Amino acid sequence: MGIPQPAYYIFKCEQSAPPGMPKPSCVTPQTQDLFQYLATKLMQEGIMATVQPIRTSCMNRCQSGPVMLVEPGHTMYAGLTKEKIDRIVSEHIMNGNVVEEYVIDSEMWDEPISPADMKAQMGR
Ligand code: FES
Repeated sequence: MGIPQPAYYIFKCEQSAPPGMPKPSCVTPQTQDLFQYLATKLMQEGIMATVQPIRTSCMNRCQSGPVMLVEPGHTMYAGLTKEKIDRIVSEHIMNGNVVEEYVIDSEMWDEPISPADMKAQMGR
């Protein structure tokens, strides 16, 4: 038997804009410990081996930050807090139920365009 794949990957945006930049960012002094909080939570639950947290750069949804993407499923959570992370881990990660009220607005996260369709649209 081989090494098991993770059941989930959790991509947490770790981009911070320099002070004074007009663009918002997912890491501010108030939110900079969210990744560590998530990682600690996964360790405390004893599920770190099968749930892989990953620090990413900007995922282009800064207006809704701090954001985090759960895969599989393309589930983007917005406006993260420690309380939201607790519920996402217990309801989504442990029990497979997406926490709909924390999911990013569909205006900001609509259905994907397949690469083949995008290429066709570009006329290439
Ligand atoms: S800075 Fe996090 S999505 Fe852009």
